[in-house]
Amino acid sequence: QRGGSNLDAVEQGIWVTESAGDGSVGLSGGPNAAGVVQLDACIMNGPDHKAGSVAGLEGIRHPISAARRVMEKTRHVLLVGEGARMFALEEGLESVELNSREKYDLWQKQRAAQKSKPAEKKPAGHDTIALLVLGANGNLAGGCSTSGLGGKLPGRVGDSPIIGSGLYVDNEVGAAGATGLGENVMRYCASFLIVEFMRQGMSPQEACVKAIRRIIQNEPKGANLSINFVALDKHGRYGAAGTDGGFQYSVTMPGSSRVLPNPGIGTVER
Ligand code: GLY
Repeated sequence: QRGGSNLDAVEQGIWVTESAGDGSVGLSGGPNAAGVVQLDACIMNGPDHKAGSVAGLEGIRHPISAARRVMEKTRHVLLVGEGARMFALEEGLESVELNSREKYDLWQKQRAAQKSKPAEKKPAGHDTIALLVLGANGNLAGGCSTSGLGGKLPGRVGDSPIIGSGLYVDNEVGAAGATGLGENVMRYCASFLIVEFMRQGMSPQEACVKAIRRIIQNEPKGANLSINFVALDKHGRYGAAGTDGGFQYSVTMPGSSRVLPNPGIGTVER
């Protein structure tokens, strides 16, 4: 709105969630099966189509800032594990202790509770922020940050740091981002797919629904895919759709900020 940097808006917006303690992003991120928090993030800039990502990053407060540094300060797109951590530290990013016995015990409890209620198949402690920005200058940017799937195998990387899967930005068309079970997103390059659907003329809402329907067609009937998307086009139109009933998304425009319900995907014919 004030004409500032779109990338600053993405980075600082995601900082809020990375610091907020939602249980699955940044500081409060959930542990993997070895009790270690490994964070994933990416950022993408519309005008120059540049991107940066980090995966399996340990002990850094703001993975989104590490991803931005990868984009802006290296020749690379994706850094993983110890290399990503060393790079973040060299860049002066804040190091924090993300692991704790309490966190691990809490995750184990959630997992046990989930096993006793198989109807609620959404993985415990699993969440992601995908944030899309259309600046006053008409340019797009986006970012994504998560600790990934709770109890994941050490080294598992989900959709969030994979450009085209957890996030995609095309400055001529629009941007899309994902939350949910990364394995079901990355096998379909789903954010890229949504942007391509918008390129074909679909609204962001239609594109999100169409992507989910495309994915569902290939998957076992009745499977809880846990895939949820947000999209924003070049004209400022936005939309979302998800298979998780509780999925909500937020839209902020000059003078207003709203949390909107999951519009659903309607009935899917097979
Ligand atoms: N969507 C985040 C993940 O599955 O890692």
